[in-house]
Amino acid sequence: MSRVAYVNGQYVPHSHASVHVEDRGYQFSDGVYEVCEIWKGQIVDMTPHLDRLDRSLKELQIPAPMSRRALVRVMKEVISLNRVNNGIIYMQITRGVAPREHNFPPAGTPPSVVMTAKSVSPHKMDQVAAKGVGVVTVEENRWDRVDIKTVGLLPNVLAKQKAKEAGAHEAWFVDKNGLITEGGSTNAWIILKDGTLVTRPATHGILRGITREGVLKLAEKKGFSVEERGFSMDEAKNAREAFLTSASGLVMPVVKINETILGDGQPGPIVQDLRKSFHDASELIKLTVAGGNAPGVC
Ligand code: PDD
Repeated sequence: MSRVAYVNGQYVPHSHASVHVEDRGYQFSDGVYEVCEIWKGQIVDMTPHLDRLDRSLKELQIPAPMSRRALVRVMKEVISLNRVNNGIIYMQITRGVAPREHNFPPAGTPPSVVMTAKSVSPHKMDQVAAKGVGVVTVEENRWDRVDIKTVGLLPNVLAKQKAKEAGAHEAWFVDKNGLITEGGSTNAWIILKDGTLVTRPATHGILRGITREGVLKLAEKKGFSVEERGFSMDEAKNAREAFLTSASGLVMPVVKINETILGDGQPGPIVQDLRKSFHDASELIKLTVAGGNAPGVC
């Protein structure tokens, strides 16, 4: 079955899904987004993702395009129309379409809403996780408001491309104090020799990852001690284990930082356990298959 996207009130073939050339997301990166995991026919941590979406919209003074109830309905339709059982749903809201002028368009300009969903093989992700991944470090060069999940991701794109060219999976940004902030599309963690989990506090310099929040809950449940503080490269290189968190990669073991191999170069037991039991601490919203066509399907 071919893929379907939601674009401004209509369900359209993915291959024809498009927005206007004067969409402010396209011209100014004037928009926000969310990515939720879909796992075994369930939306993972939908409530905190939508809470963060609301916050991002508020911070940018973009009006909510529809009620949460309506948004959830569209999410479920998009997932169902694309027959996604395991994968991700992507949602993007921009300040809408208006003649290109930097200041906000007139009040009442409708925000643009786009949603897509795609299947991702859990088996493939598990294969990557079984080996672990490498990261490279890059200088932090992003703006101060990375706590807002905006579509303005150029530094992240360039950092991740650099990682790819170096044969790595992720780039870790390092701030001017020599502390790791986060990855290009993930939060960064290390585990100290005594088993303490360390991750930067979500007060400044990082996105408050929903998967990160989930791991914090899980760690508490499992009785791990956690320190929310910045960590340096030296600490990371001497760590017992390290990992990344994100909705698309969950808990992903890191086995190499730049040229340094961590431990024996294999994912360690704590990270593997956190990955295996991640969903024990998540909100899971069951998807009921939609009956018939959604309104507006083309
Ligand atoms: N990335 N930090 C950054 C810069 C991110 O872009 C992301 C998410 C995270 C992790 O957040 P969460 O656990 O809520 O997914 C941290 C998404 C998955 C993306 O851009 O595809």
